[in-house]
Amino acid sequence: MKIGIIGSGAMGTGIAQVALMGNDHVALFDTNEEALQRAKISLDAQFSKLVEKGKITEERKTVLVSQVSFVRYMNDLADCDWVIEAIVEDLAVKKAVFAELDALLPKTSILATNTSSLSVTAIASACKHPERVWGIHFFNPAFLMPLVEIIPALQTEKNRLEEIQTKISDWGKTPVVTKDLPGFIVNRLARPFYSEALRIYDEGMATYFEIDEAMKSLGFKMGPFELMDLIGNDVNYAVTESVFAANYFNPRYTPSTTQKRHVEAGWLGRKTKRGFYSYEEGATNASESLNILSQEEIGKRILCMLINEAYEALRTGLASAEDLDLAMTKGVNYPKGLIAWGKELGLDQVAWEMTKLDSRYGEDRYRLSPNLKDSL
Ligand SMILES: NC(=O)c1ccc[n+]([C@@H]2O[C@H](COP(=O)([O-])OP(=O)(O)OC[C@H]3O[C@@H](n4cnc5c(N)ncnc54)[C@H](O)[C@@H]3O)[C@@H](O)[C@H]2O)c1
Repeated sequence: MKIGIIGSGAMGTGIAQVALMGNDHVALFDTNEEALQRAKISLDAQFSKLVEKGKITEERKTVLVSQVSFVRYMNDLADCDWVIEAIVEDLAVKKAVFAELDALLPKTSILATNTSSLSVTAIASACKHPERVWGIHFFNPAFLMPLVEIIPALQTEKNRLEEIQTKISDWGKTPVVTKDLPGFIVNRLARPFYSEALRIYDEGMATYFEIDEAMKSLGFKMGPFELMDLIGNDVNYAVTESVFAANYFNPRYTPSTTQKRHVEAGWLGRKTKRGFYSYEEGATNASESLNILSQEEIGKRILCMLINEAYEALRTGLASAEDLDLAMTKGVNYPKGLIAWGKELGLDQVAWEMTKLDSRYGEDRYRLSPNLKDSL
């Protein structure tokens, strides 16, 4: 098959590598010549690394490199079977690209967007044949991260789902199917991991360090503050803000002013050497404890918020319980899926914790999911 990829930035280049390794031909298109050159160098370096590690032979690298073309015009994608768009996250720009693609490619082709936060349905509406438009959402770095969210738009003809799932599986990835709702699965279900941690901190109930330690003791590889510093406070805050706005300002997703101030200060995390922690050479971050809440109390509060969110997602049919759990374990390395974790912990325990928070704060943010209540 021939896969066209639009946008040769971080995601487009990663997706190109995935498709090439899956024995497909790739045409990588970008309007920016420098970005194309960078992609060419980066792909070559990635394949060389695989040769060095003994994962592929030099001959295989030669074949892989010969199967990708770097193109400057959208017309060069006309003979592609699929096109995956990975350009700037801007609805107007994406719609213009899809309108052009729609006119260029036969209606049997698949047109996909890698958008993280926009409506696939809105993007598809730019096409005369929106029934062949899908969201195919990879995670960064695409070559390493196993999860791919598949999102049919409202207009999409679902009879090609199996074909898409098969291709994603052939590329060695784990596909999950989700509705076209803000944040899809991972970016939505993970919100409480950050926002409840920030809330506990904002209330002066625990330090960053205590909260991070509490979550790591539950099996998470990184604590929320370490992870926000790794992702970048600017990126993480923007996702929270967009999920909050797209959910009509549902208080469950309220962003944190503390995080906003970090963005305003330019304390973005590792990339600026300062976020919640310092990454300057020789920096020793204080590992202070307030000892107001126990590790168990902190962990339980954040975990129960996560589990409650997963049950809320089930209520609106976002995805199957199995796909919700796969998404969190494969997409963000959670030690367990949230639905399974809820059952293991005991849903009565989760309900008790949520009811306790609800009665303390009286905010809709802590409302027990009716779906969880029904499952008791
Ligand atoms: N970076 C991530 O962690 C991540 C993860 C999942 C999904 N996404 C989504 O993937 C998409 C791309 O993100 P990225 O981080 O790779 O961006 P990026 O800025 O690294 O790359 C975007 C590329 O698109 C090119 N481009 C812009 N407009 C174009 C056009 N009209 N035609 C052709 N090329 C054009 C730019 O020159 C640039 O090279 C976005 O929709 C983003 O939300 C990003």
